[in-house]
Amino acid sequence: MTRRVAFLGGGKMGEALVSGLIRSGGRNPDEIMVTARREERVRELAERNGVAATLSNPEAVEWAETVVLVSFAAGVRTSFVEKHLASGVPVVRVMSNVAVLVDEAMSVVSPGSHAEDKHVSVAEELLGYVGRVIRLPEVHLDAITATSGSGPAYFFLLAEAMIEACILLGLSRDVATELIIQTMLGSAKMLRDTGKHPVELREMVTSPGGTTIAAIRHLEEAGVRAAFLNAIDAARKRSAELARGGEEEGDA
Ligand SMILES: NC(=O)c1ccc[n+]([C@@H]2O[C@H](COP(=O)([O-])OP(=O)(O)OC[C@H]3O[C@@H](n4cnc5c(N)ncnc54)[C@H](OP(=O)(O)O)[C@@H]3O)[C@@H](O)[C@H]2O)c1
Repeated sequence: MTRRVAFLGGGKMGEALVSGLIRSGGRNPDEIMVTARREERVRELAERNGVAATLSNPEAVEWAETVVLVSFAAGVRTSFVEKHLASGVPVVRVMSNVAVLVDEAMSVVSPGSHAEDKHVSVAEELLGYVGRVIRLPEVHLDAITATSGSGPAYFFLLAEAMIEACILLGLSRDVATELIIQTMLGSAKMLRDTGKHPVELREMVTSPGGTTIAAIRHLEEAGVRAAFLNAIDAARKRSAELARGGEEEGDA
């Protein structure tokens, strides 16, 4: 009953989700319709993915059983979307992240006031093809936006800084990039696969009087830990602010 899916707004995130769905066998191309604003983008989406693509959102909505609003922009609340739909239409809010592009997204789904378990399950199923999904009450979504939603940017910044450090130490940019990416990937896999707490893992590589503790002393002196707490708290506040702004505009 929920096979036919329409994606309103086939941009980077939308196309990543569509191609992930098809690649993983979650949906056949003929079960997907995508919309865009420009004719050229419509053609591109159809040619690259073998799906139906159109400029008409109403056409796509009429055809589909499930509609994905790719404007799953930060801070659009289910109550806002519900206000613009016929009463009783189930809405599920999603906060994913840019790793949708490589099938390693972290997505969180939250039911709106008319969404039942089976509706949330559809969102979980669709996002499950492109990464991990958990279900949480919507009250947490500003926090999620600030952490896993914006999170890739924090790791990219860290990678950038560490690559610069390698360059400072005289390594070439290519070597620096390879060293840092593989180190991040290895660390992420250890965190995921060993189930150990980050503190335990860090202690494993911090020998008394050694090199790692010499570096960590500087990171602590620079207040890196507090900077993360403050930065993520600021992102959460900004997400809540955007949601309030969007709702006021919608009300106007
Ligand atoms: N953490 C997250 O969950 C996360 C991460 C990244 C992005 N996002 C959000 O996801 C949304 C999409 O991001 P993106 O990077 O994929 O953006 P994008 O590449 O700019 O994609 C937007 C797409 O929507 C289409 N579009 C715009 N208005 C439309 C309309 N009225 N009807 C039909 N299609 C329309 C555009 O069509 P044309 O190409 O023809 O103009 C474009 O293809 C953004 O709101 C962004 O904030 C969320």
